[in-house]
Amino acid sequence: MKVKFFGHACWLIEGAKDKVIIDPFLTNNPHTETKPADLEVDYILVTHAHGDHMGAAQELAQQSDATIITTNEIANMLSQKGFNTHGMHVGGAYEFSFGKVKAIPAFHGSGIEGGHACGYLLTMGEKTIYHAGDTSLFGDMKLLNGIWAEKVDLALLPIGDNFTMGPEDAAVAAKWIDPEKVVPMHYGTFSLIDVDPTEFVHRADAENVNSEVIVLKPDESLEI
Ligand code: NI
Ligand code: MN
Repeated sequence: MKVKFFGHACWLIEGAKDKVIIDPFLTNNPHTETKPADLEVDYILVTHAHGDHMGAAQELAQQSDATIITTNEIANMLSQKGFNTHGMHVGGAYEFSFGKVKAIPAFHGSGIEGGHACGYLLTMGEKTIYHAGDTSLFGDMKLLNGIWAEKVDLALLPIGDNFTMGPEDAAVAAKWIDPEKVVPMHYGTFSLIDVDPTEFVHRADAENVNSEVIVLKPDESLEI
């Protein structure tokens, strides 16, 4: 499975059949030249409605006739505007044509009145990916290791601090989740989150994280 990073928290997952984009921040994203018009996707996962995560979801959904999977409050708001949506909420899982999505808690604002932010555990084929969304470190991340997932193959963790976990907490998260591979995200986009990803690499080393720590440049891909 191919996993492409567009910088910040935006990822394109290409499975056998479907293309799934997570947090499609593709307009005014300083990390990438890729524009919504360059992509054709089947599903769009949105962790919360802050602009750097909701991003170009509506534009992409319109041009690709894609379904937006997100929390119920955001899904309701978008379906009232005529979009195809699938509302979920934290703790719930659903089997889609491309695989299974479980909404994982995230300690962060929803970006909309009411509601809650979330992360996603996405299982496609044999592989399981955890996209943490924007969140603090929280103890229940331990449940991703053996309870919510048998094994996480790839964890995508925010490290930018100020709005989310910083490198120290993200290293603890990686230790607890114990994924096969871990990639830092949500840094370097704005001055407030101008964190060097090598700081995360060093912290992961200090925490004796067993995972392969991979720093991806925007527009780079990973095969899992
Ligand atoms: Ni946010
Ligand atoms: Mn954010």
